[in-house]
Amino acid sequence: MLILGIETSCDETAAAVVEDGVHVKSSIIASSKKFFERKTGVIPEEAARKQVECMIPVLEAALKDATIDPSALDAIAVTRGPGLLGSLLVGTTTARLLASTWKKPLIGVHHTLGHLSSTWLEAQDAPAFPILTLSASGGHTDLWLRTSHMSGMLLGATRDDAAGEAFDKGASLLGLPYPGGPSIAKAAESGNPHAYTFPIPLAQEDTLDFSYSGLKTSLKYLLRDLKGEGILADLAASYQHAICAHLADRFARALGKHPEAKELHVVGGVSANTVLREMLRTLPRPFRAPVKLSYCTDNAAMIASAGYFLQKEHGKRAFAPFTTEASLPRSAVLQQTTRVTGE
Ligand code: KG4
Ligand code: ZN
Repeated sequence: MLILGIETSCDETAAAVVEDGVHVKSSIIASSKKFFERKTGVIPEEAARKQVECMIPVLEAALKDATIDPSALDAIAVTRGPGLLGSLLVGTTTARLLASTWKKPLIGVHHTLGHLSSTWLEAQDAPAFPILTLSASGGHTDLWLRTSHMSGMLLGATRDDAAGEAFDKGASLLGLPYPGGPSIAKAAESGNPHAYTFPIPLAQEDTLDFSYSGLKTSLKYLLRDLKGEGILADLAASYQHAICAHLADRFARALGKHPEAKELHVVGGVSANTVLREMLRTLPRPFRAPVKLSYCTDNAAMIASAGYFLQKEHGKRAFAPFTTEASLPRSAVLQQTTRVTGE
């Protein structure tokens, strides 16, 4: 089954063609990150304007790279939320138009379900359920136990900032460019991760939730006290270590509570982080992250893959009409979510 995926939830304009949820025929991503590097984050209206310009060339490139004619497509999958409304509408409006013109079924996909599917892209062997998945990006930090693509439960979520947001806000405090994850990782390369200590979030609580606002505040006060005397590489390395250690600690606790998990997955923009990957690799289960860094951050291949598994588990119900939503709740990610936190 060939699915065209479209993703425009934040500052990317992406289109991809994926076969049977796994084989990536093409994946094109145009990003306005460079443009926003000079600012401290994405400006929603500017992002949507750039996406309007990029959408058609990106679509054409995705079809050309896949060497397929639109008539060969079986369906179109598009991110319906959550994200920036203007940006989402560029993708969903384009997808609705194409579906109607080409007479193809249309699948609306929750952005997080896309990330959860990203470990299937180009995987040599199929992952085995139950899977414990950490999904950490700029907008969310969720820990899931999934028993199939569309069923499972949310074990924990952030109570305040997302892990990616902690990187982005920390970078801004350190005077490093947006997005903060890659720039902190780069600045940390020659640094000592134990040079500065940060408080361990939610240390006294028996919970699988996350909390990042305290770390960011600690960095702010540390920088104030250092009065410009701190070593940037050490500060970046210590702050990165604190963010990743909190993620790894929740993962280890979750595995202790759910030893039935056969695999551990990490997805979302923060899964590109090598320090985090090293920490998670020490846990006693097979570990997977998306096989390419471009499948960690926002991309359309993961949306096409999620669309495939949605129709595989839901049949024609996957093609039901949908709305475009800036704040689509976590409870809409899977078909059965038995516990929802942090909404
Ligand atoms: O999944 P994503 O591309 O977009 C959202 O859905 O938010 O994630 C973007 C987030 C940003 O906060 C960015 O700083 C973070 O992922 N990120 C990283 C790395 N690359 C991107 N965080 C840590 N280390 C990285 N190498
Ligand atoms: Zn994302």
